[in-house]
Amino acid sequence: MADDGSEGATIEELLVESRVFPPSPAFRSDALVTDRSLYDQAAVDVNRFWEQQAHALDWFRPWDTTCAWEPPFARWFDGGTLNASWNCLDRHVAGGLGDRVAYYWEGESGETRTITYAQLLDEVQRFANVLKSLGVRRGDRVAMYMPMIPELPVAMLACARIGAPHIVVFGGFSSDALRSRIVDSGSRVVVTADGGWRRGAPVMLKQHVDAAIEGTDVEHAVVVRRLGDLAPGGAVAMSAGRDLWYHELMASAEAECPPEHMDAEDLLFLLHTSGTTARPKGIMHTTGGYLTQAAFTHRYVFDLHPERDVYWCTADIGWVTGHSYIVYGPLANAATSVMYEGTPDFPDKDRWWDIVERYKVTILYTAPTAIRTFMKWGTSYLSRHDLTSLRLLGSVGEPINPEAWVWYWKEVGGGTCPVVDTWWQTETGAILISPLPGVTDCKPGSATFPLPGIGAEVVDDHGNPVEHGGGYLTLTQPWPAMLRGIYGDPERYHETYWSRFPGRYFAGDGAKIDEDGYLWLLGRVDDVMNISGHRVSTTEVESALVDHPSVAESAVVGATDATTGQAIVAFVTLRSGESAGDNLGTRLRQHVADKIGPIARPKSIVFTDDLPKTRSGKIMRRLLRDVAEGRALGDTTTLADASVVDEIRRRSQAAPAED
Ligand code: WT7
Repeated sequence: MADDGSEGATIEELLVESRVFPPSPAFRSDALVTDRSLYDQAAVDVNRFWEQQAHALDWFRPWDTTCAWEPPFARWFDGGTLNASWNCLDRHVAGGLGDRVAYYWEGESGETRTITYAQLLDEVQRFANVLKSLGVRRGDRVAMYMPMIPELPVAMLACARIGAPHIVVFGGFSSDALRSRIVDSGSRVVVTADGGWRRGAPVMLKQHVDAAIEGTDVEHAVVVRRLGDLAPGGAVAMSAGRDLWYHELMASAEAECPPEHMDAEDLLFLLHTSGTTARPKGIMHTTGGYLTQAAFTHRYVFDLHPERDVYWCTADIGWVTGHSYIVYGPLANAATSVMYEGTPDFPDKDRWWDIVERYKVTILYTAPTAIRTFMKWGTSYLSRHDLTSLRLLGSVGEPINPEAWVWYWKEVGGGTCPVVDTWWQTETGAILISPLPGVTDCKPGSATFPLPGIGAEVVDDHGNPVEHGGGYLTLTQPWPAMLRGIYGDPERYHETYWSRFPGRYFAGDGAKIDEDGYLWLLGRVDDVMNISGHRVSTTEVESALVDHPSVAESAVVGATDATTGQAIVAFVTLRSGESAGDNLGTRLRQHVADKIGPIARPKSIVFTDDLPKTRSGKIMRRLLRDVAEGRALGDTTTLADASVVDEIRRRSQAAPAED
């Protein structure tokens, strides 16, 4: 984090966005919440508020203590026992919802499966018995490395049923990444598939598993047959005794498996966050608090009417978004979800809109990177389809630029759907900062306010709350779904999140608070630029660029500069049909200066077809800094497409700096 010694210096507030979008009367007429009562209840007695939310779940035994807080360690609903799979399945089936669809699954190549709650419960119980037959006991960890197929939520819920924490590893990660997570968690069983499909080509997951588990404690790999004979070279190799086919084990599995009574604080799962350089952190999430808050936020942030909504979260289950908002939140709320295996551009760039139309999706939850990609592709792909079933849109993963927000609202939502920008992290387990769609007047680009029960404050370098202006986003009180630690490393937990501002959780994000109290996320503080002693947020300059009608997406970095300390270098992709001619670079630099001030005028602009992103869609500014400063590239292993940086390097050498 930059420290230029200036008193209380934080991050300058430059971009001012004044458009306001209140919920429409039509939306409000049918919304779950239209007044401030939840905020008021939480303000009066926060523990009582969370108790009420926990009562939405089924408990085998009620808890004794709502929250025990010994900073930085919290325990929620201590003494209570419950089971997550029971709450996601059995109680709905017992309540007469067995025939409700849990998932409409669509494979990339077009095949479909419809899975009801009764069918899901049946499959989960059988697989729970399979795991037991392989020696998995309560407390044992089980790793998963799978494509987006229904067997992934089945395996997760089967683990939850028998009290075995799951460790889902995103199927796009390398065998090294898989191996380190297996070793860190001490998993002895891995659930995988012979492969998956991506843009029509097979992805050879099983080969990665073979490489990853060599020499580890893994005793068994359970393999779902997804490619079958379509695997290159015929069916994949199975190591006798170690590797077992899912369908063979399931064929002889017992149908009934009673759920374990888990303590509220028993581990439900580990999910590793891949910090850019350091060893991945195994983020610990426990059962009662996590499920309470995942269900609460899923219901109220998305205004869920489970009896009629069709909800689609486009994330991969390998990320926390998929854990909380494809699996646990929606299933705990008896929602009907769409689950899609593939990419948005296969076979064509209208695939998502085709899915929305066919399943009559009402709630769509996606990421700014996808929205900006659709902006780049243009609206013709949207206009091929009837999107009028949509009634609510969500965004997560990065700050959403105001222009992208408005585009999403207008082009995808037809100007009638509220857009909820939801801020949270793997560590927070659930959404913490977001509008309530029937209550909050939205400003495009702002995640607005902390949800009921959440204490969030922006502070300056000294940890003093900032009433208006930029600073660091901190959380002031424990919340039920918060991480319980880093697996095996309590010191690192303290050091990473609780030491920068004593008594507060530091999220690592910059944020500003405007004169109406709205929160605006400004990106990771490691990315903040220092221009002549002014701390400028990359997000604000990027949003000013995206505000220009020719620009689809941009990434901005500070490169060392002899005069100003750092100088702004902007990487820009254009909307389809636009070209970089006619001094566009100069005009864009001026546009930024007009929009947010001369201090933020980029020194140079590099036009490129693509930006380097992680597999979860976050722009890797670190690599762009390497490019801008002419350095050798740092670690590129988490890049989705490694060729992108070479192309950018070529173009940036050709782009002269302007003054
Ligand atoms: C980081 C957490 C949350 C699930 C997916 C990412 C950034 C996330 C927003 C948002 C601005 C956001 C933050 C955060 N982020 N949502 N709505 N506005 N920034 O989980 O991989 O743990 O990343 O994503 O920088 O710290 P994650």
